Amino acid sequence: MNDSHMRVYFDYNATTPSAPEVLDVVARVSRDQFGNASSVHHFGQQAKSVMDEARSSVAALVNADPSEVVFTSGGTESDNFALRGAADALEPSGRRHLIASAIEHEAVLNTLKALARRGWRTTLVPVDHTGVVSPERLRPLLADDTAIVSMMHANNEIGTIQPIAELAQLAHERGALMHTDAVQSVGKIPVDVRALGIDLLSLSAHKFNGPKGTGALWIKRGTRMQPVLTGGKHERNRRAGTENVPAIAGMGIAARLALGKMAGEAVRVGRLRDRLETGILTSVPGTAVNGDPSARVPNTTNISFERVEAESLLIALDLEGIAVSTGSACSSGTLEPSHVLRAMGFPPHRTQNSLRFSLGMFSTDAEVDRVLEVLPKLVEKLRGLTRKPQTVGSS
Ligand SMILES: Cc1ncc(COP(=O)(O)O)c(C=O)c1O
Repeated sequence: MNDSHMRVYFDYNATTPSAPEVLDVVARVSRDQFGNASSVHHFGQQAKSVMDEARSSVAALVNADPSEVVFTSGGTESDNFALRGAADALEPSGRRHLIASAIEHEAVLNTLKALARRGWRTTLVPVDHTGVVSPERLRPLLADDTAIVSMMHANNEIGTIQPIAELAQLAHERGALMHTDAVQSVGKIPVDVRALGIDLLSLSAHKFNGPKGTGALWIKRGTRMQPVLTGGKHERNRRAGTENVPAIAGMGIAARLALGKMAGEAVRVGRLRDRLETGILTSVPGTAVNGDPSARVPNTTNISFERVEAESLLIALDLEGIAVSTGSACSSGTLEPSHVLRAMGFPPHRTQNSLRFSLGMFSTDAEVDRVLEVLPKLVEKLRGLTRKPQTVGSS
């Protein structure tokens, strides 16, 4: 990379840079409110009041009551807690069936596999070619022993948003709990746990400019849950372990910032994303967008490049200082085809020639310009090296 060129970070769905206000509060709380929030003395009570404030801010972001918010170590733990905690609580009732969409994050999919090894029946609901789960597809899969339905709100690879309220209604009609992994929607679009009509919601601070390694599970009041982490009486006996108070304080500030700026940011980032997307589609032949064109978070676009190996393009872009992703961060470094694009019915080559561009708080027009300047030439060069003909649309 030429040093005079800017670095471009278009991988916000993998993680976001912390907002300056977040960094300030993490440093301040680490220094000044270092007490253990369970201690009865002054230092402990100071830490507890920091946590109370953060809990209110996180609750406000999803229209919840603060008492329903349990702090966790992030989205992965929240998903594990939601599914394992509800499974443990419901197993004695005889319900041992769990349903999730085929395009869930590994935090959900691998937890399903773990429960299957324990004797649970698990079902993956197929999605349509835009990555949406239609209520008609869920309905026949629900059974009398279905305990939990887990459907992500926005998909991390393609950004598609699911009709959660309708899906939740169906789950409830059959007596099942509804969990939503909202890790990729919280902070980007309005998320209202009451309007969605769900029971459990996972969120993660580092996806909305908060610190890494902290998140929350929202548990609707009255929902039967068993703790997964057992130990002390933290988080009202729901999640044991001394809380990471500085990170939680950072998440609280990030939640407050997100709530205040969401409407404006959705428009600003959406415009940048649309300009990037249109620019790529018009300047690079043989490209197509994956996902639902309208039911989509405003920061994400996933684009297939005919006759290009996505991994090669990702590396070529990185050498130019441009950071994007081939899908979920966990699968980068491997040539595993995306399970999301596969579930959408794409042929094998298209699951391996797609790149995700995800924008956010610090994204600028200059960054979009830089990508539009560099990308077409790189694709042309890589296509020159590729002999095997491929097409975007067919197998
Ligand atoms: C949809 C979704 N769920 C869960 C996770 C896991 O969250 P965390 O990185 O906080 O463990 C991610 C992270 O990429 C995600 O995108």
